Amino acid sequence: MKNNGLTIAIDGPAAVGKSTMGKLIARELGFIYIDTGAIYRVITWKVLKNNINIKDENMISNLVSNTSITIERANCESLNDYYHIFVDGEDVTEEIRNPRIDQNVSQIARLSKIRKQLIHLQRKLAEKGNIVMEGRDIGSVILPQADIKFFFTASEKERIKRRYKELIDKGYSIDYEVVKKQIIQRDKIDSKRKYAPLIRAKDAILIDSTGKSIEEVKDKILKIINKFRECREKIN
Ligand code: CDP
Repeated sequence: MKNNGLTIAIDGPAAVGKSTMGKLIARELGFIYIDTGAIYRVITWKVLKNNINIKDENMISNLVSNTSITIERANCESLNDYYHIFVDGEDVTEEIRNPRIDQNVSQIARLSKIRKQLIHLQRKLAEKGNIVMEGRDIGSVILPQADIKFFFTASEKERIKRRYKELIDKGYSIDYEVVKKQIIQRDKIDSKRKYAPLIRAKDAILIDSTGKSIEEVKDKILKIINKFRECREKIN
């Protein structure tokens, strides 16, 4: 893929802050933000809605072939309403954050046939350049030529606390232990799957946000990006 824009890939485990940081960075740079986790969540939402067995790869593959996913920018001022995602024309932005989706999404995302089907859509979304794309396999599989790759990490305890707070703030009544179990289980499935597992690409910069404020992490990332841009300008 050749374009004149900058391509930034962010990968990392569940609830590590990829979305918050991805949106902040994209907003600051005037880039497009693409949350690939939302695509897997949308497929999971449709699979559950149609009562399809989450292990039935062929049925799910068929469903993916007959699904249209579109993403629209909404309100850049609000990180909570930054974009809307539609499946076959229906806005499912809120529904895909339901803990029921958290519980099932990794089972579907581990299916290689489904992942391969979704590569094209993700690359198409990234085509224009000047994008921040986040997920699990962006630096390793989807955009191996990305200009800058980040791999986010934070302690398990902190990630669980963040996600628990996020769900409670959204009004879900959920137990801390349930959130803990879901995050641990999701990370395990995502890291151990055979095809496109969650890994740190060799050239990805590690960002550990444990105990750090959002501002601190954002400043660090922007410094790295600006440095890269300066170097690129000098070379050209
Ligand atoms: O927000 P959070 O980090 O909890 O998850 P997400 O980014 O919304 O992703 C939800 C799930 O989708 C992950 O647990 C993975 O199973 C899957 N996923 C993936 O396999 N590959 C991606 N590029 C993005 C998400």
